[in-house]
Amino acid sequence: MLKNFTDSVTFKRGLTLKNRLFMAPMTTKMSFYDGVITTDEANYYGLRSGGVGAVITAAANVQEDGKGWEGELGVYDDRQIPGLSKLASSIKKNGTKAILQIFHAGRMTDSQILRGTQPISASSIAAERPDAEMPREMTESDILHLIDSFKQATTRAIKAGFDGVEIHGANTYIIQQFFSPHSNRRKDEWGGTLEKRYHFIDAIVDEIIDTVDQSDVENFIIGYRFSPEEFENPGIKFEDTLFLIDKLSNKGLDYLHISLNDYNRKSISPFYQDKSMLEYVYQKINNRVPLIGIGDVRTLKDVKNVLANADFVAVGRSMIIDPHWAQKILDNKESLIRTSLSMYDREELFIQDGLTEFLEFMMPERLKE
Ligand SMILES: Cc1cc2nc3c(=O)[nH]c(=O)nc-3n(C[C@H](O)[C@H](O)[C@H](O)COP(=O)(O)O)c2cc1C
Repeated sequence: MLKNFTDSVTFKRGLTLKNRLFMAPMTTKMSFYDGVITTDEANYYGLRSGGVGAVITAAANVQEDGKGWEGELGVYDDRQIPGLSKLASSIKKNGTKAILQIFHAGRMTDSQILRGTQPISASSIAAERPDAEMPREMTESDILHLIDSFKQATTRAIKAGFDGVEIHGANTYIIQQFFSPHSNRRKDEWGGTLEKRYHFIDAIVDEIIDTVDQSDVENFIIGYRFSPEEFENPGIKFEDTLFLIDKLSNKGLDYLHISLNDYNRKSISPFYQDKSMLEYVYQKINNRVPLIGIGDVRTLKDVKNVLANADFVAVGRSMIIDPHWAQKILDNKESLIRTSLSMYDREELFIQDGLTEFLEFMMPERLKE
């Protein structure tokens, strides 16, 4: 089927997007210390909404001990619902849909951010990064509690008026930590073989689907994000990811979302050098569930290239720099897109210091004095 980025598309659970463009989930580091959204943060999203079919929010932690950084959005307490509701309405402009990304940082945090609490993970293995702290291995009851927290977060997203949740199984956070042979060295039913390392993902997806099905919400979608491979040894190999995708494609999710910084990127595995990872993944899915492609999309040409191997396109950094990026693409006004960011633009774009520091790391070449 020939796809056009302007097509409207209806998901399995009935939600219709007005086009194939998503704003990618990107942390803003703007929330209050207790995970409650700030007015600037709502304005940040409002400014970027209206053109894209849907906005996926920054990762929101489902438990207090899942907080990965200061300024993170929280969805672990009912008192966060009014702020989340404000966030959903700031996004739901001009038909754009609002998806809340839900996550737990696992070992990718520290006891300072957790105010003295030791981080938790599948096993007691520190991440391979400078100053990484040793996490505490989760007990069986911690695992069941975490699954329940993801369910409760989904219920809060429904109450707050979101159109869906995205399960954040990517970027080395706790769901990925259960799938990774680096961070998961368990010998019980939650670890060991590839199949057992998948068990936690399987359980979370089933429970979230069940939560949505049991509620009376209509057209509420569920997506799942994954990273294609890890550099660590042992670590997730691209082959493991193809196994994961095969499983997830049959689960009744509304979409899968790959995490890539460059849509053309090839695997580090010598066995998968013929195509980009995006193309291998799309072929593996084989139309069983829609796929969101991503990775340094800046132009209409990039959008079309991604759509050759995906059903939707998510755009991150380009939409930080130009909040009206999607509308300009839709209006065929590509030449008007802002391509770099100066410190003088930041106030108008609602970009605060925490995000600026992150951008200095994530896109130094697109920042100017
Ligand atoms: C500032 C910033 C914050 C991010 N925060 C998240 C996040 O909260 N959740 C997530 O899944 N990915 C996050 N990402 C990754 C993006 O979703 C995306 O995969 C990445 O930026 C590549 O897309 P792009 O080239 O269009 O920016 C973040 C990226 C940036 C630049």
